[in-house]
Amino acid sequence: YRVEFLNYERLDEHDWSLDDEDLFEKAADANLGNADYGEITVEESETLLEAAENAGLAWPFACRGGACSNCAVAVIDGEVPIPTSHVLTQEMIDRGIRLSCITTPVTEDTQVVFNVKHMPAMEDLLL
Ligand code: FES
Repeated sequence: YRVEFLNYERLDEHDWSLDDEDLFEKAADANLGNADYGEITVEESETLLEAAENAGLAWPFACRGGACSNCAVAVIDGEVPIPTSHVLTQEMIDRGIRLSCITTPVTEDTQVVFNVKHMPAMEDLLL
């Protein structure tokens, strides 16, 4: 599965928001570095975090088991199912937040913003 990614830390400096309809178009036009914006391929057998690491990217994580939310991403487009055991609140899930260490996308094209642990609403969940 193809996953287009964007670093949450770049949103602030460009005055972008997770709700911008054209967020990924703007990111594509912004000349961001390869670590901040790009595309990876995720196999069914690997998690989103593993796929990023296999692509040479250093996405944040800590527990690798769904318990800390350091690895959280916001799904902007596509579907990333929610495993049964995790630390996210229903509100987070409704906003499209997923944990990259325990999830794999199921749609052909998915867009995610990683590093959302820096989002103010997420900070309470961090261990
Ligand atoms: Fe802790 Fe994913 S690394 S929840």
